[in-house]
Amino acid sequence: MTENVLEVNDLTMHYMTRKGPVFAVDGVTFHVKRGEAIGLVGESGCGKTSIAISLLKLLPNNAKILNGEIKINDVDTVPLSDKEMNKYRWKNISMVFQAAMNSMNPVYSVEEQIAEAMREHMPHLSDQEMSEKIDYLFNLVGLDPALKTQYPHQYSGGMRQRAVIAMALSCDPDIIIADEPTTALDVIVQDAILKRIREIQEELNMAMIYISHDIAVIAEVSQRVGVMYAGKLVEMSSTEDIFHHPIHPYTMALMSSFPSIVGEKTELVTLAGEPPDLLNPPAGCRFHPRCPYATEICREQEPDFKEHAVGHYAACWHPGGVK
Ligand SMILES: Nc1ncnc2c1ncn2[C@@H]1O[C@H](COP(=O)(O)OP(=O)(O)O)[C@@H](O)[C@H]1O
Ligand SMILES: [Mg+2]
Repeated sequence: MTENVLEVNDLTMHYMTRKGPVFAVDGVTFHVKRGEAIGLVGESGCGKTSIAISLLKLLPNNAKILNGEIKINDVDTVPLSDKEMNKYRWKNISMVFQAAMNSMNPVYSVEEQIAEAMREHMPHLSDQEMSEKIDYLFNLVGLDPALKTQYPHQYSGGMRQRAVIAMALSCDPDIIIADEPTTALDVIVQDAILKRIREIQEELNMAMIYISHDIAVIAEVSQRVGVMYAGKLVEMSSTEDIFHHPIHPYTMALMSSFPSIVGEKTELVTLAGEPPDLLNPPAGCRFHPRCPYATEICREQEPDFKEHAVGHYAACWHPGGVK
């Protein structure tokens, strides 16, 4: 087995729209080691969900992967047909979506839905083993197994989200992608589920990509963090370095929205305006119109995503805000 469960190299995808192509993911490169939890953070519309659905190849009809590799356990899945990709979904890579209700079928009980995925990917399990495994999964996510015969509408929002997490874990995936799994829930439920996700990740030593617009949430669950801006990965490093030595002014700005976790040395950067329209993104560094440190080169040339300190990557002409 290779050290990396996932390797994404130069991934570029777009959505075709009536107004032209929307480059939602543009030249993104990162990897996830076995058992490692990474976070992806960025404002809404930066391409986080587009990365997630590209990794599972669950793309809408107007979306296309134009370039790059997505290696799952060393196999590039980009050229695979949908049928071939089905062998990897659930079993090797699985996903918890933002809207739990949409990923459950209202006409089947929760148990039947989990069993369906398991039957396809773990045909060697007997009915008895499957039933025991579902009980185990329910306990794992903090649901009473006695509720497994109920239907999704009988669950509260938080319970449904837990059931969806159980489903995503059912075929022992090598890596799980959680896309804003708690965003739609109230704060107390959010905290409880977040805590459970973190415990499960550690307990099962499972690789995870946790996606959120909230950098405080990301800090809770990830060992490394990638920061997305306008379809680009602009910074990636250990969570510790992202918080204490951010390089990209966008990362610095994201953190200043959470003053309680900003280290004393970090200069606060306020974030005015909105991410650009990806139909027509700005030239040079896509962040330059909002960046307090932008100079001529930022408006004209795109900075390379390069290593500034060991394992700390960023794409910026003025790393750390130094002119
Ligand atoms: N089905 C689609 N068709 C056209 N554009 C889309 C579609 N889905 C997402 N987009 C666009 O792609 C960009 C990235 O969106 P998304 O990946 O959902 O961002 P995030 O998850 O970071 O909020 C946005 O500009 C969004 O409007
Ligand atoms: Mg999203």
